[in-house]
Amino acid sequence: MAYSIKDIGMAAQGVKSLGWAEQHMPTLMMLRAEVGESRPLKGMRIAALLHITKETGALARVLKHAGAMVNLAASNPLSTQDDVAAALAKEGIGVFARRGESSSEYNNSIKKILKTAPDIVIDDGADLHAALHQDYKSISIIGGTEETTTGVTRLKAMERQGVLRYPVIAVNNAHTKYLFDNRYGTGQSTADGIMRATNVLIAGKRVVVAGYGWVGRGIAMRMHGLGAKVIVTEVDPYKALEAVMDGFEVMPMCDASAKGDLFITATGDRDVITATHMKNMKNGSILSNSGHFDVEIDVKGLGRLSSTKRQLRNNLTEYTLKGGKKIYLLSEGRLVNLASAEGHPSEVMDLSFSNQFLSAVFLCRNRNLEPRVYNVFEDIDMRIAKAKLRTMDTRIDTLTKAQKAYMASWSSGT
Ligand SMILES: NC(=O)c1ccc[n+]([C@@H]2O[C@H](COP(=O)([O-])OP(=O)(O)OC[C@H]3O[C@@H](n4cnc5c(N)ncnc54)[C@H](O)[C@@H]3O)[C@@H](O)[C@H]2O)c1
Repeated sequence: MAYSIKDIGMAAQGVKSLGWAEQHMPTLMMLRAEVGESRPLKGMRIAALLHITKETGALARVLKHAGAMVNLAASNPLSTQDDVAAALAKEGIGVFARRGESSSEYNNSIKKILKTAPDIVIDDGADLHAALHQDYKSISIIGGTEETTTGVTRLKAMERQGVLRYPVIAVNNAHTKYLFDNRYGTGQSTADGIMRATNVLIAGKRVVVAGYGWVGRGIAMRMHGLGAKVIVTEVDPYKALEAVMDGFEVMPMCDASAKGDLFITATGDRDVITATHMKNMKNGSILSNSGHFDVEIDVKGLGRLSSTKRQLRNNLTEYTLKGGKKIYLLSEGRLVNLASAEGHPSEVMDLSFSNQFLSAVFLCRNRNLEPRVYNVFEDIDMRIAKAKLRTMDTRIDTLTKAQKAYMASWSSGT
């Protein structure tokens, strides 16, 4: 899927989009400026499987500026922004992706970026890591990073089974990632995706949010802000308790399915909304997913229940069930915030991708790490938090000597 001379018009638009993203990613741009001519990633081949958005483009440019040869493929068939992909290809970044690619094109693109024999891999969802542990075991990798919760879950399973063959930094687990990207990024962009696909009024709707983790709570918060009556479903008693005390109704999906107007899954789990739940639903119910893989809503089951299906608008499919009831599915059950909108706002990706960049440099400089899943190192996480606050013109207090001593002691201080 190399981008050709025909894509020049598209590339020009992509350059503008990249500029807009960079303008809103001051921390990453500050790190780029600090790199100057020092080229900390000189000679490194980096393969990245990420959503190819304008923000990913900004990261790819910084990696290239730091000396790396960068090849990108998409971590989701529906999330590529073709104008950005064309612009990056024109700048000498390898891009193997197009919006709406088939499953076989998706898998071929993974093969193509692995053929470049990468030294460092950046992944979102762990499909690239999984391929390197199945069919591409001969490629020697210095280390990798992982962007999302589902990817970290898969990598921890590899670590538990003793099969992980190189160190991986769980970028998702940085404070400056999950507290902001998963919560505020997905909260806003999920609302954006649903509204672009449907333009329905959220106020007054009963919105069922499945999962009250970092993503789910961001979505619940934003839906509440738009005037929805939010119902949360959970399997974790602590999270369920939090949702209750945050003011939301909590109930199992078998009950929520009969009450909701709009459903949003955000669990990282499978079979969260099944055909049995769909039979319970009201006419006109809208289903969407913001979890990483398209396994949360049983799309095949919905097909089996239906007599007809038609595309009403971009990313909005109408299913007519055998009894005549209509159910609407957004973005084929794939990440609604990336497929129907543009993914997270740049300001949030500024934090996530600053972690990605500094973690790649860390891996390059520290070649003796055991093959384990590591959290982002505290000094990197803290450096990014402080830098971001500076870019937001926000100052905070610092502990005095006496306060430090008091906080470290067990005396009452009287
Ligand atoms: N759309 C995006 O851009 C985006 C951004 C970040 C993360 N994600 C993805 O979103 C998903 C959730 O991420 P997170 O960081 O919130 O994870 P998390 O672990 O913080 O939260 C997931 C929650 O879902 C609950 N859960 C699991 N199975 C459930 C079920 N069957 N029914 C109801 N609740 C269930 C868990 O108890 C947990 O509280 C993951 O797949 C992650 O990769 C997507």
